[in-house]
Amino acid sequence: MGVRRHRSGGHLSLLLPPLLLLILLAAAEAKEKGAHRLRFRRDSGTFKVVQVADMHYADGRRTGCEDVLPSQVAGCTDLNTTAFLYRVFRAEDPDLVVFTGDNIYGSDSTDAAKSMDAAIAPAIDMKLPWAAVIGNHDQEGTLSREGVMRHLVGMKNSLSSINPDGIEIDGYGNYNLEVSGIEGTSLDEKSVLNLYFLDSGDYSTVPGINGYGWIKASQQVWFQQTCSRLQRKYIHESPKQKEPAPGLVFFHIPLPEFSSFTTANFTGVKQEGISSASINSGFFATMVEAGDVKASFVGHDHINDFCGKLNGIQLCYAGGFGYHAYGKAGWSRRARVVSVQLEKTDSGEWRGVKSIKTWKRLDDPDLSTIDSEVLWNRGSNGRRKKNPDGS
Ligand SMILES: *[C@@H]1O[C@H](CO)[C@@H](O)[C@H](O)[C@H]1NC(C)=O
Ligand SMILES: *[C@@H]1O[C@H](CO)[C@@H](O)[C@H](O)[C@H]1NC(C)=O
Repeated sequence: MGVRRHRSGGHLSLLLPPLLLLILLAAAEAKEKGAHRLRFRRDSGTFKVVQVADMHYADGRRTGCEDVLPSQVAGCTDLNTTAFLYRVFRAEDPDLVVFTGDNIYGSDSTDAAKSMDAAIAPAIDMKLPWAAVIGNHDQEGTLSREGVMRHLVGMKNSLSSINPDGIEIDGYGNYNLEVSGIEGTSLDEKSVLNLYFLDSGDYSTVPGINGYGWIKASQQVWFQQTCSRLQRKYIHESPKQKEPAPGLVFFHIPLPEFSSFTTANFTGVKQEGISSASINSGFFATMVEAGDVKASFVGHDHINDFCGKLNGIQLCYAGGFGYHAYGKAGWSRRARVVSVQLEKTDSGEWRGVKSIKTWKRLDDPDLSTIDSEVLWNRGSNGRRKKNPDGS
């Protein structure tokens, strides 16, 4: 075979191969990243996300745990966070992992890049596609916010992006991902589920305003335009759809609207105050106006893990994941799972999204599943379908 190729390539082959090889390798790499397409699974019609909030990873085995029982202190390190990642990934087999910030705890990390590599390693090792946003602690070590986000974007299997091309925007890590319908069906070229990621900042830089950062006007404009563009495409391009594809939004710091609930109207627990920015950026209204957003997922408050619904949008915490993050001794570290299910027609073809469910996995001996609930259901808005009994 080699002989034949050499003959047809002539003397050029003596010059080209190393260069060609480099070009081909670069192209293959670019293709691998660009071509990674998130898709629903054909067998089950599901797409499952595991949300990991607040790992607070630092220096691995040299970094101890916070807020564990006295009997658990010895031998507890960042490696327990790593072990929990493996456990939950094996149990859930997710289609995407989303790290919602404070992935590392900068001020206790000797080398921010190394901490990130170690923190994300289980997802890479298990070949899971993943995406990340940053919190308020990621940049407190050896890298700036931009540096941290650039590193996350460059890591293996990362679907994260710095920011959209060609526009001025606040923060680092504002991007969206599309999840296509089942291969071979009429929706296989369409994004039937939209995922949005935003940088909710770290601390206020506005004189006279204390506290945490917020999602700025420039980011909201990008978000609004991206939602409208995706909706137009979904509804007006063939095969035309009646309703927008549902959207899920991920960022770190909770919105002030997370304070709208009491135990009467949320699922999960609230064991500390809502640490949102001290002013309201209006992002909740922007999400409501967008019309496609069904749920948003944050971290930041480690011992709150509830979901509550306000104006048609579920506001969800994941609860703290990492052992070097503050927590509550005896209250298990946890992850949120979000499972999205497609509708199947009577003729057996997979269509758009039917429902969005969630539950949490605890890092206890049984890897317990708790607080399973439906976040959104296509029928429940009454816009499209009625039950046969008219309800
Ligand atoms: C941390 O990991 C060690 C080693 O596997 C284990 O013995 C210990 O129980 C874990 N601690 C906690 C709090 O899970
Ligand atoms: C939750 O319930 C409380 C008490 O009944 C009520 O004041 C509040 O408006 C409810 N919040 C939402 C978002 O439904």
